[in-house]
Amino acid sequence: MCGIVGYIGNKNSVPILIDGLKRLEYRGYDSAGVGILTKDKAEVYKREGKVSELEKYISELKLNSKIGIGHTRWATHGIPNEVNAHPHFNPEKTLLVIHNGIIENYSVLKKSLRDEGYQFVSDTDTEVLVNMIDVFLKKGQNLCNAVRYALSKVEGTYGIAAIYIDEPDKIVVARKGSPLVIGVGDNENLIASDVNALIAHTKRVVYLEDNEVAEIYKDKFIVKTLEDENLKKDILEIEGSIEEITKGGFPHFMFKEIMEQPESIKNSLRGRVILKDGLAKLGGLIGYEDRIAESRRIIICACGTSWHAGLVAEYMIEQYADIPVEVEYASEFRYRNPILSKDDTVIFISQSGETADTLAALKEAKRKGALCVGVVNVVGSTIARESHTGVYIHAGPEIGVASTKAFTAQLIVLSLITLLIARKKNLSVVDGREIAQAILELPNQVQEILNQNELIENVAEKFVSANNFLYLGRGYQFPVALEGALKLKEISYIHAEGYPAAEMKHGPIALIDENMPVVFIAPTDTVYEKVVSNIEEVKARGGRIIAVANNDNAKIDELVEYTIKVPSTIPMLMPVLTVIPLQLMAYHIAVKKGLNVDQPRNLAKSVTVE
Ligand code: AGP
Repeated sequence: MCGIVGYIGNKNSVPILIDGLKRLEYRGYDSAGVGILTKDKAEVYKREGKVSELEKYISELKLNSKIGIGHTRWATHGIPNEVNAHPHFNPEKTLLVIHNGIIENYSVLKKSLRDEGYQFVSDTDTEVLVNMIDVFLKKGQNLCNAVRYALSKVEGTYGIAAIYIDEPDKIVVARKGSPLVIGVGDNENLIASDVNALIAHTKRVVYLEDNEVAEIYKDKFIVKTLEDENLKKDILEIEGSIEEITKGGFPHFMFKEIMEQPESIKNSLRGRVILKDGLAKLGGLIGYEDRIAESRRIIICACGTSWHAGLVAEYMIEQYADIPVEVEYASEFRYRNPILSKDDTVIFISQSGETADTLAALKEAKRKGALCVGVVNVVGSTIARESHTGVYIHAGPEIGVASTKAFTAQLIVLSLITLLIARKKNLSVVDGREIAQAILELPNQVQEILNQNELIENVAEKFVSANNFLYLGRGYQFPVALEGALKLKEISYIHAEGYPAAEMKHGPIALIDENMPVVFIAPTDTVYEKVVSNIEEVKARGGRIIAVANNDNAKIDELVEYTIKVPSTIPMLMPVLTVIPLQLMAYHIAVKKGLNVDQPRNLAKSVTVE
């Protein structure tokens, strides 16, 4: 997820672009760039790092142009650096393009362009798109047609803007899957990924839909379909303050990120599920799949929420891929003398990719010859660069300190890794298809749960004054119990513990009385009946019980005080669904306690110190 902005009018576009990029920085902040047209050339200025780095760089240059485009990056293809930053340009540097999205078939297109003699300076998928457009410009097409023809060859998602030295009176934009808005001004027009970057200039906007392209002039705009049909678009008036809009209208980044999960899950599985063959395709692991599948054992190393994702993966890999798995706290692993060999694979899970303990554990494992696989969100982060191979989870920037959408995206990628290696071992194509189909259904199923936000808020309301909480689950749901407890602790400061439900009678059951809320994660799986007897044990001691159960389970309502229902899927994927109500419950309790949900006390988004 990147941020794009563009301006055409009578003012100097450069300060407007920089301001717009700053408002889009929550979408991506690892590198930024602007592109402008001056009298006789197209100029590009890019910098690695936050928009402020770019601003510092160009502030001395006194740039001035009435047409320009800007981009703040959240890397997907190619690490964050100046070369991979946008805008990208054609060999003659007469065409500049910025892009938000993922070109899935970029390697195929790149090969055909190479065969035509094109060379590439960056590792990005976007540079492929620029040269695709250039092919049609060289065939005499105007910019808008060249963009349309090029996009007709593209698979994936995009929100793009292009400017061309031979047509300096327009910006051409197009979208599919990534947001793009036109800001209608007075003798000036803007384009952007979202209204954040526009609102300071106009509240009159036009939302582009998928497969639409537009020519933006300073005093008019023309919207067409990719098939060149003219479209009439309504100009809408946007409400709300900038503050509100930066969070997309949500009161907190955490809530926004919880609600974004259908989208972030789609992004984490995009182009990675081959349903007909019951297979997963993970470009980052190419060349390492067999070594991973033949591992003597797999060790998963992480911290916090990422460690909980690792615990779920232990169940997945052992169930489907017949490889023994151990899950380690990175902070312990790095100082213990772990017995490792080249036949071992160690998976390092990290949202930020910068967590000090996980990084140190990685260096230790590398020193001992194990294959090191990174499962990371931040592209180009240290853990990603230090790993031998890996997979990006593509959850997009996660601003809220309490990790939510990164957790579910981690589970998606870990289930894809499981499917990939299991299909290299004993998993049949039929069973593979069942898993693949279930993965593809998750975004809609998550949306179904998010639609119950109000119900979950009402349940949370009942427990705002609680001092302690217990979260209990079995099997795949034990890590979810740990994650639910962590979310509540992190943002509401209520003491909470997660436990395997069967462990209760070995001690914690002593804590149970009418003041102890107990959350049972109880989907109808192979251990459900066992969980029911654990519920009975707690109920018998006056515990107040909230249960997360399947939609089709009516009986559990009689057993517990509050029930939150979730759709059914295969056990290995149930954690993606059962964690959502726990995220929302923790969020609502913390908000009702008037706490700073996005920046809770004593915590940092990325723990880069020991
Ligand atoms: C989770 O909500 C916390 N922010 C924290 O536990 C986090 O998961 C942990 O610090 C690991 O971070 P990482 O995934 O960026 O390595």
